[in-house]
Amino acid sequence: MKSWPKIDGALADYVDANWLRESPLKRRLREETAKLPQAGMQISAHQGQQIAWLARAIGARRAVEVGTFTGYSSLSIAEALPADGKLWCCDVSEQWTGIARRYWKEAGVESRIELTIAPALKTLDGLVAQDLAGRLDLAFIDANKDGYDAYYERCLKLVRPGGIVLIDNVLWGGSVANLADKDADTEGPEGSWVKRMSEALTPPPATRAPPLRGIREGEKKIIVTLTHVAEDRMLDLVARLDA
Ligand SMILES: C[S@@+](CC[C@H](N)C(=O)[O-])C[C@H]1O[C@@H](n2cnc3c(N)ncnc32)[C@H](O)[C@@H]1O
Repeated sequence: MKSWPKIDGALADYVDANWLRESPLKRRLREETAKLPQAGMQISAHQGQQIAWLARAIGARRAVEVGTFTGYSSLSIAEALPADGKLWCCDVSEQWTGIARRYWKEAGVESRIELTIAPALKTLDGLVAQDLAGRLDLAFIDANKDGYDAYYERCLKLVRPGGIVLIDNVLWGGSVANLADKDADTEGPEGSWVKRMSEALTPPPATRAPPLRGIREGEKKIIVTLTHVAEDRMLDLVARLDA
């Protein structure tokens, strides 16, 4: 028996009309981003809303984002932080994050955000070196896929027990269920990142409440994997809690 609902146009429209709350500023950011050829990299408005909701639910004060692009997810996170909260953003593009900076400023959250233009791994290692391990509340990973497992390990270090690590695209358009699929992202020199991530996130079978890879006994971090289903209309959240 399948547990997936059929998400047709009417249901999607209903969810948008009744559940989605998007500020005019964020809508403008989506419209501006839509003009770029890379617009598909942007998270959906639903994801932004869910991420913000999760950040608020745990009272997040410090967060890190890996992959900022034009700023939709960073804006969603920064707006959910308190005025003295802090979001560290990692990206390699001055051009795309230039758009993000404009919107952060207009939203009045620029003082909460520190953007570093450099390979994310270097920036994350810099945060660990600044003694921030175990002191962040939330991490969001949404950048180059061949870096995902290293980002995941670093974010596990940085996020405190009880904090949240969010990972986008882990189903990769269904490739996770078809690991014979060999597109450039799913099959790299070290093997498929999708496979590596699914191994990292999936507890071995027949074990009671097994810890996720990289989480030590008693640390209890929440891993949330995000994906779009039904043409980007609905957010699927799978939360796992190390017990
Ligand atoms: C999918 S987009 C991020 C979308 C963004 N979260 C949003 O809400 O619109 C991926 C971003 O990762 C960045 N990126 C690619 N390789 C990177 C690396 N090695 N280190 C840091 N950022 C990288 C790209 O420049 C791009 O902006």
